[in-house]
Amino acid sequence: MPKPTSKPAVQTVFVCGSCGARAGKWHGRCLDCGAWNAMAEEPVRTPAAVGPARFGLPTTGETARLYADVDPVASERLASGFAEFDRVLGGGIVPGSVVLLGGEPGIGKSTLLLQAAARVASAIGPVLYASGEESTHQIKDRGRRLGVGEAPVWLLAETCLERILDEVERLRPALLIVDSIQTAVSTALPSAPGSIGQVREAATRLLFTAKQRNLPTFLVGHVTRDGSLAGPKVLEHVVDTVLYFEGERHHAHRVVRAVKNRFGAVSELGVFEMTGAGLVPVPSPSRLFLSERAAGVPGSAVLCAVEGSRPILVEVQALVSTGAYGTARRTASGIDHNRLSLLLAVLEKRAGLSAAGEDVFVNIAGGLTVSEPAADLGVVAAIASSMRGRRIRAGTAVFGEVGLGGEVRSASRAELRLREAAQLGFTRCVLPAGDADRTRASQDCALHGVRSVEEALAALTE
Ligand code: TYD
Ligand code: MG
Repeated sequence: MPKPTSKPAVQTVFVCGSCGARAGKWHGRCLDCGAWNAMAEEPVRTPAAVGPARFGLPTTGETARLYADVDPVASERLASGFAEFDRVLGGGIVPGSVVLLGGEPGIGKSTLLLQAAARVASAIGPVLYASGEESTHQIKDRGRRLGVGEAPVWLLAETCLERILDEVERLRPALLIVDSIQTAVSTALPSAPGSIGQVREAATRLLFTAKQRNLPTFLVGHVTRDGSLAGPKVLEHVVDTVLYFEGERHHAHRVVRAVKNRFGAVSELGVFEMTGAGLVPVPSPSRLFLSERAAGVPGSAVLCAVEGSRPILVEVQALVSTGAYGTARRTASGIDHNRLSLLLAVLEKRAGLSAAGEDVFVNIAGGLTVSEPAADLGVVAAIASSMRGRRIRAGTAVFGEVGLGGEVRSASRAELRLREAAQLGFTRCVLPAGDADRTRASQDCALHGVRSVEEALAALTE
């Protein structure tokens, strides 16, 4: 953060983002906890206000109530008009909730929110779309391709937070979109847009407005180079829901994933395809992720994964080839790198398949990221298949967690995975023995329960 030079018009104090220590002037390093570049400027709130109101947080002045006496609110949700998007939100937009949508530049954040804005506007009521990044003409130009049409979407090209709040007051929209939180600046702070203090101030004020007016609010968030949301960590704590927009620029499909949700399950997934007319929901992602599969090639296995409440079949590809002397490489895309090292060690010790000195490449086809342990057996199967040059038997899908002893452990939601596999025409599934015993009677797909990696490899390869 640049050090402010001129004397600020408003009285401010510098607060450390990591320990909360206060200082009268800016320091590059917090004098209390030693964190670098963590001091953020904040306005000094008038001491007249006490308690949470001092920090701009809502307070009701209520006394504690007995759990049994609290009426459950029928929390009706607004439909965004996008079934895939509603699914990620946990079943629609919750009134008064604040949702942060993060993602890399150009991934489609503005596109998705403008499409959602148009649908909410025509179904529920006016939407205010405040953009600090594009002019109203640019937004309109995009909207024409997306078919926004006559829906009452109000566009405001504005970075000043107070002006945005004034327009909220005037228009009383049913939904507010702020694109992006990093460009919103409050005149109460002299620091630059995007600085920790500004982002925190803007987010807190918008949260306050959202709760006070029961106004659902979407904030677009930029991500840093390492892929995490830019700005203070506190941003993620303040909002109700954090969504990440993922996907590779070179692939047409995009995945929206919930990483925090006060109103629904996390790791819930929505899949879209970027087309000339904007984002189009993909109702059957398994079909998409398997569509270009080169069946019958060694090193390819079909994994039954579950993301959130949704089963997805994906292809795990592995290529094991002789590396140049001393430069054995391990490259993982779509799975955790450390998990790959662990699985290679298990393969060597428990199944006698050593990849020492060989290059190992593992990839989840289509650019999806799978982080659940049940993916292990799919990865192991693909690697072993490539090493031995033997194909995985046709029509076979696989899932299961692999332990350090080479044992195959049960996975969650086996029924769901099997149903998806059967629906897509897989006739055989290699799965943990425990899961096979529990689900045997109810499936159309032949089950092959296994207890160890060795058993699994015997059952999988031809
Ligand atoms: P955008 O929503 O501007 O991304 P973000 O707000 O996350 O930075 O998306 C821009 C990209 O989407 C751009 O590369 C072009 C592409 N796109 C389409 O392919 N089709 C469309 O209809 C639109 C509106 C955008
Ligand atoms: Mg944008």
